[in-house]
Amino acid sequence: MIDWEKLISAARAVRENAYARFSNFKVGAAILSADGRVFTGCNVENSSYGLTICAERAALFKAVSEGAKDIIALALFTDSAPPARPCGACRQVLFEFNPDLEIVSANLSGNVDKFKLSDIFPEGFRLV
Ligand code: THU
Repeated sequence: MIDWEKLISAARAVRENAYARFSNFKVGAAILSADGRVFTGCNVENSSYGLTICAERAALFKAVSEGAKDIIALALFTDSAPPARPCGACRQVLFEFNPDLEIVSANLSGNVDKFKLSDIFPEGFRLV
């Protein structure tokens, strides 16, 4: 059983650390690994714009760096309505580790959408 409330709370909390001085769009992400660990990330923008990293990839790279490649769920937290969807780049990067990843996206208004990565990214690139 996935504790979605806990994962959403973690994404909401880490969103406060977002470094979003150019877009003012703060994003928080929390990833649950199969062994029960939670890895959080926020977006970190940069003066050179293109070097910005999204919250989802920040969280994922932390997870993988700590040896957690078996990821089972992602919570995303923003202030957008409807709740945001992961960007295309993040979809491909998440797909690498779990094409069926379970995702919740929540916002400050209390809206919560639940879907799978495979719903929004059915045919990612695979190196065969
Ligand atoms: N952003 C994310 O962190 N995740 C997404 O899935 C989409 C966009 C960030 C990047 C940038 O800092 C800001 O949101 C506006 O695009």
